[in-house]
Amino acid sequence: MDAAAYAQAVEDAVGAAAAYYAGGSSPLDDDAYDRLVRGIAAWEAEHPDQVLPDSPTGKVAGGAAEGDVPHTVPMLSLDNVFSPEEFIAWTGSLARRTGHDVTRFSVGPKLDGLAVAARYSRGRLTRLITRGDGTAGEDVTHAVGTVEGLPETLAEPVTVEVRGEVLMTTAQFEHANEVRIAHGGQPFANPRNAAAGTLRAKERAYTVPMTFFGYSLLPLPDTDPALAAELNELAHSDLMSMAAGLGVHTSARTAVPDVVVETPEQVVARVQEIAAVRAELPFGIDGIVVKADLAADQRAAGSGSRAPRWAIAYKLPAVEKITRLLEVEWNVGRTGIIAPRAVLEPVVIDGSTITYATLHNPADITRRGLRLGDHVMVHRAGDVIPRIEAPVAHLRTGDERPIAFPERCPRCGSDIDTSEERWRCAQGRSCHLVASLTYAAGRDQLDIEGLGATRVVQLVEAGMVADLADLFALRREQLLGLDRMGGTSTDNLLAAIAKAKEQPLSRVLCALGVRGTGRSMSRRIARHFATMENIRAADAEAMQRVEGIGSEKAPSIVAEIAELAPLVDKLAAAGVNMTEPGATPPPAADAGLDADATSATPAEGGPLAGMSVVVTGAMTGMLEKLTRNEMNELIERAGGRSSSSVSKKTTLVVAGEGAGSKRAKAEQLGIRLATPDDFAALVAGFLTTGR
Ligand code: IVH
Repeated sequence: MDAAAYAQAVEDAVGAAAAYYAGGSSPLDDDAYDRLVRGIAAWEAEHPDQVLPDSPTGKVAGGAAEGDVPHTVPMLSLDNVFSPEEFIAWTGSLARRTGHDVTRFSVGPKLDGLAVAARYSRGRLTRLITRGDGTAGEDVTHAVGTVEGLPETLAEPVTVEVRGEVLMTTAQFEHANEVRIAHGGQPFANPRNAAAGTLRAKERAYTVPMTFFGYSLLPLPDTDPALAAELNELAHSDLMSMAAGLGVHTSARTAVPDVVVETPEQVVARVQEIAAVRAELPFGIDGIVVKADLAADQRAAGSGSRAPRWAIAYKLPAVEKITRLLEVEWNVGRTGIIAPRAVLEPVVIDGSTITYATLHNPADITRRGLRLGDHVMVHRAGDVIPRIEAPVAHLRTGDERPIAFPERCPRCGSDIDTSEERWRCAQGRSCHLVASLTYAAGRDQLDIEGLGATRVVQLVEAGMVADLADLFALRREQLLGLDRMGGTSTDNLLAAIAKAKEQPLSRVLCALGVRGTGRSMSRRIARHFATMENIRAADAEAMQRVEGIGSEKAPSIVAEIAELAPLVDKLAAAGVNMTEPGATPPPAADAGLDADATSATPAEGGPLAGMSVVVTGAMTGMLEKLTRNEMNELIERAGGRSSSSVSKKTTLVVAGEGAGSKRAKAEQLGIRLATPDDFAALVAGFLTTGR
């Protein structure tokens, strides 16, 4: 970097920080901003005489949204570290400042929202102020009623300032964007922008909720002197307990509460635990904040003009990056759904290169106002499919082009049924017969060995199968006529097809590919109704009695089953099993009147009776060969309930090799853990997979 590049970098960073703190959408994502500031700091270290006055390294960061309410004590920012090494180095400098090794650290989530100060006068919330430039902020008291977790009256009539972060949980963000779009607005790019925009908006026709998390508690000028003295002496952890006691929402009620640990190694371990559960948190975090817990240590370490020296932000890799939307592809799935997929300029997010992101459906593209060539904010957390949040509208150049929607099915040229949000080829599941048959023959459905995609293509191209039931009518001579089909492979394939007729109803149902149902839902439906006849007889109301099927989903499942009736008849005629072993059908006519008959009755009295079990990591030993679906089937055969996410309701977590966040969460919640071997022993009597 030379002096000119340095000046440009400072200008870019100042502009980005201004947009960030003002709640606008920044032209830089967090990662790019951090890199820029680190570059600036490195250059300044070499050229201390040439530091520009508005450099982001030298003052309270942000500094743009000029407010008119001065802060009693500056609202500082935090310095960052990005690795265990940098963190350990920071503890070294902390020890030098305090004169001893710090042995009480408070470690908690760095909430990804915006900082506010809430002033309470004799227990009543009188003013809410944004951070602004750190010395003065904007009065946003008008927003008080929309911020959950910030009580209008405290449990005690004290005069204090509570500082913390206002954010939108993922659910609040989705709701906010729905409401905003419904009012003709542009969606917010991410929860942070949504919270910032919402907090500052004054005359909106609608209100949307946000959430507050307190992270500090301090006296105000007219706080009772005894209380002020107490607040100045309390450890951070005690202040947080006090805040919670006063009725303020803090991290204590989340899956990642602030904890106090004693050594830097314990801090790093806690950082890793929090990082492991990050993707599952209902709100965004961009790092972990580590604070010297004791007031004496904080005082000894002191504060700079920009950030305290007793606290540090341990940044986690960004889960959002800005990149460009190059193309939109339209792919037909196995049920005939025509789904748009975004082709992106490749971008690395948390170690993986992202080239595609889901776009849901055409209406969603229209709602978001996306155009080809747009800069878009891409979000990817954990192993979920990357998604586009919104276009970064102010980066538009005018060269962006509209996204063309297909007029005919991109696969077969048929008409498109656009009556629902998700468009569908008029040929339905016959449009992509290869995909639908390959899925049906898959290991978790009919499990027909030897019937992979290549073979399915051959069968379809030779005109031997036009639907799933045709598989069961295949003859030996026909198969022998195919390329690379000798006598042995033919006999094996025919045997596998014959065996598939014995599969339980749950798998047959799954193989049919009823839209809106997958493997576990198919099992629930099959267990609930016990026979295909009962399923077909069910109306929406009866369908709703299956656990997990709500009033929205029920009618579409019923309609799908009706659409599939000819195929089901054909399968039954071919001798395919249509019953679920071990399931008892709901008592026929009066089933609707029985309020308790709400869900599939799990096998009674099995070793897992009444238990909710989550499987994570790779299975070993006796269970090594089982797919996740087969593990879930096993759990249900043994009387339990299978689930994919760990919560307070979980009773057992089977943690195999490489188990990560779910195991961590189970440990945190004190849920019983089992190794694959322990679990195999527990369900030994039920270990037949039907293979
Ligand atoms: S302590 C003087 N604790 O991060 C101490 N800040 O990048 C500074 N933040 O401006 C605040 N979660 O808005 C603290 N648990 C937490 C936090 C947190 C998020 C924000 C805060 C601050 C920014 C610095």
